[in-house]
Amino acid sequence: MSKVSVSKADSFSLHISEIAPDKSISHRSAMFSMLANGVSEITNFLRAEDTLNSLEIVKNLGATVVDDGTTIKISSDGIKEPFEILDCGNSGTGMRLFCGLLSSANGHFVLTGDKYLRSRPMKRVTSPLREIGAIFDGRDDANLAPLSVRGSSLKAFNYESKIASAQVKSCMILAALRADGICTYTEPELSRDHTERMLKGMGASLHVDGLKTTVEPMKELLSPLTIRVPADPSSAFFFAVAAAITPNSNIVLEGVTLNPTRIEAFKALERMGADIKYEETDNRYEPIGNIHVNYAPLKAITVEDNISWLIDELPVLSIAFACAKGTSIVKNAEELRVKESDRISTVVEGLNACGITTTEYKDGYTVTGGTLTSATVDSDGDHRIAMSFIIAGIKCGMNVTDLDCINTSFPNFFELLQKITKVEFK
Ligand code: S3P
Repeated sequence: MSKVSVSKADSFSLHISEIAPDKSISHRSAMFSMLANGVSEITNFLRAEDTLNSLEIVKNLGATVVDDGTTIKISSDGIKEPFEILDCGNSGTGMRLFCGLLSSANGHFVLTGDKYLRSRPMKRVTSPLREIGAIFDGRDDANLAPLSVRGSSLKAFNYESKIASAQVKSCMILAALRADGICTYTEPELSRDHTERMLKGMGASLHVDGLKTTVEPMKELLSPLTIRVPADPSSAFFFAVAAAITPNSNIVLEGVTLNPTRIEAFKALERMGADIKYEETDNRYEPIGNIHVNYAPLKAITVEDNISWLIDELPVLSIAFACAKGTSIVKNAEELRVKESDRISTVVEGLNACGITTTEYKDGYTVTGGTLTSATVDSDGDHRIAMSFIIAGIKCGMNVTDLDCINTSFPNFFELLQKITKVEFK
């Protein structure tokens, strides 16, 4: 599947209950099961490339995984030195969290990934881990994968991170669980907190006070997880934007996590004028519910705070910016440059190709709303760029190339899109 043509859509009214399960929670479910003293049961696990790679790694680390197609049962009697190289594929979350988990395990481990992941910075985890005694090696002094780690004993730490990153935080929390004393991790802004919620739910001694998390090393194995993974708000948001830019349209997105660290993009779209309602239906580890989005004319906004809460949604939020009245501004978002692509460049170049005026800065960009025009946009191997410009296509028609990356997070994306518009593969 190398190229798709998407047609302009008419107004629609939809209820979607099949949004892809949450990627962050699925990765963590597979990994954290290795810390439990029994069988963890996971339903609605995201069966996409990134998370299936994590599940495969967990198997390679000696866990027993029984999958009946609905529920995945995972049990482990400790991390075993693997025969295989551990392939995280495209996933930064996979690689960075496994670095934390494996840095204290008994054995030698090699982590690698695809050509995109092998170009992404890993020092953000290997440096603080080395400081507490972890033994890492890799290209560019353990900044670039393939990485090797030999498990060792880890010293207790008080780490103040300069980056608001849930991947770095989760990596260090996993290391702290095996360190030789109480550890603290402080971040500059709160990043998504699934790790804290899930590990606490499993009985870990972990205390969150604002931006500071205190972790006591595990005295014994944790209780198993029993979890139904909610729908992924980052995936749901593509369809929220689709409704918000198509006059007379509305959509209900069912069973999404309403964790405040994950729905900031919906709040931004609300600030732009979209009519959005949140209906909580469940609460297990985190609030879960339905999000209702109704079209309304959009106006420009500035996005500069809590950037990590909407970092994954900024590409498709930028499609909404292109349809809004006025100039939207994104600031403090340099992290976008080290995602699956340099998302400041890929968003700006894609929008320019569609006739939209933008300005690029080191840590952000501006988008002046106008008339999107049909173009051919390449994803640069980045799933969120591919899906964002496909959503732009429902406004004006669009060709998008390099589509396989969509399978990393949202394998049924096209199936759902076809409820809205005509899609032709070439
Ligand atoms: C993730 C954290 C975010 C996000 C990624 C998933 C996670 O990365 O972009 O898609 O599951 O922890 P950072 O924490 O590095 O910003």
